[in-house]
Amino acid sequence: MTKSNDKTNTKRTDVPSYLPADNLGPWQIYLEQIDRVTPYMGELAFWIEALKRPKRALIVDVPIELDNGTIAHFEGYRVQHNTSRGPGKGGVRFHQDVTLSEVMALAAWMTIKNAAVNVPFGGAKGGVRIDPKKLSAGELQRLTRRYTSEIGILIGPNKDIPAPDVNTDARIMAWMMDTYSVNTGSTTTGVVTGKPIVLGGSLGRVEATGRGVFVVAVEAIRRLGMSLENSRIAVQGFGNVGSVAAQLFSKAGARIVAVQDATGTIYNASGLDVEKLRLHVEKTGGVGGFKNAETMKPEEFWQADMDILVPAALENQITSANAAKIRAKLIVEGANGPTNPAADDILRDKGVTVVPDVVANAGGVTVSYFEWVQDFSSFFWTEDEINERLSRIMRDAFAAVWQMSVDRHVSLRTAAYIVACNRILEARSMRGLYP
Ligand SMILES: NC(=O)c1ccc[n+]([C@@H]2O[C@H](COP(=O)([O-])OP(=O)(O)OC[C@H]3O[C@@H](n4cnc5c(N)ncnc54)[C@H](O)[C@@H]3O)[C@@H](O)[C@H]2O)c1
Repeated sequence: MTKSNDKTNTKRTDVPSYLPADNLGPWQIYLEQIDRVTPYMGELAFWIEALKRPKRALIVDVPIELDNGTIAHFEGYRVQHNTSRGPGKGGVRFHQDVTLSEVMALAAWMTIKNAAVNVPFGGAKGGVRIDPKKLSAGELQRLTRRYTSEIGILIGPNKDIPAPDVNTDARIMAWMMDTYSVNTGSTTTGVVTGKPIVLGGSLGRVEATGRGVFVVAVEAIRRLGMSLENSRIAVQGFGNVGSVAAQLFSKAGARIVAVQDATGTIYNASGLDVEKLRLHVEKTGGVGGFKNAETMKPEEFWQADMDILVPAALENQITSANAAKIRAKLIVEGANGPTNPAADDILRDKGVTVVPDVVANAGGVTVSYFEWVQDFSSFFWTEDEINERLSRIMRDAFAAVWQMSVDRHVSLRTAAYIVACNRILEARSMRGLYP
């Protein structure tokens, strides 16, 4: 569930007492990223310590009555990492392995992502240590409602706006919105995003992340002097993000030559029929067994002949074990944290361009921002308007990061962190320190 690093847990002095100093987990990786960007911050480095601790971290007990009449207690969290640029924004994850360190790091990465694409939010994240597959629908609803009540002192449409993440969906967002509304005595659709359309959800939200991946890929292709037409693309993950991106690439004339998901790895040098593949996945649950394609061993996926690689499945997939074998000239990170830092260095030395997750997969949070704006004004936009505005924000974000990378001679990932941290710390310095 976490980003990982080949280098783990060297001792640091700037760590909070509430994490074990010898096992900082994902928070350690985040701190190292901030260390790496600090030399580029100029005078704003004066404020850098603000990014090294979360503004607020709430740990809650979530007791629920199980269907068998007994009571079970679960640990829940809501962390607001930074609110200098606006209210906290970030998903809620239900997973048995969620930890405070992970939620802190995910909240911090939301701060960076929101600033990298310049949407007016800070960063937040939440989680409950529970395997939701073990709960009945009734238990899941009771868990969601009690968790929402417990974190009710932190969330609100002007304070902190949750959204779906791993194992949470539009139905859970509807329960969260209802619980918050009942507790506050007024229907408040803008307290969460990723809601069903009938409750103030936004058109285009489901496709937004994959669409954003496609938009920034087109921008990168153009700047690298590559051509989209007929370029060979490999996609890991054919879920929400991967399948939408693959469809858009295919419609634009590129060839999706390899796809890997949890059920198999398939290859077709002349390009897979993405629409047929989508129907096959809808019917069977995965790409495995798709006709008109060769089957590959999972590890062969990385060395397939390709121009562009889109990791859109899990974190920590591109590592020092496979980075050297990758033939793509361009990697566009649909997933969160698919490339670990050691692999990043190998790819940089090989001259591979990596469009980092904080920009490439920010389409989802961008349309969440649109949902929040539409909820406030109770006036809803057409899907065309949404897609047009999404494309503009993604293109502008990519252009700023690309320019920073050229100006400072750094990777796009470092450039994205420089752009984001500049925006956050500038806001911080303008606001000043209270009292
Ligand atoms: N959905 C969003 O809006 C959004 C936004 C930002 C980032 N992301 C990130 O994008 C990634 C994918 O999210 P999603 O919403 O498409 O999820 P999803 O659950 O819809 O799809 C996940 C895909 O990954 C595949 N997969 C799982 N284990 C695998 C393995 N071991 N090897 C290869 N493939 C495997 C699954 O088979 C599936 O095709 C995640 O990292 C997520 O955090 C998603």
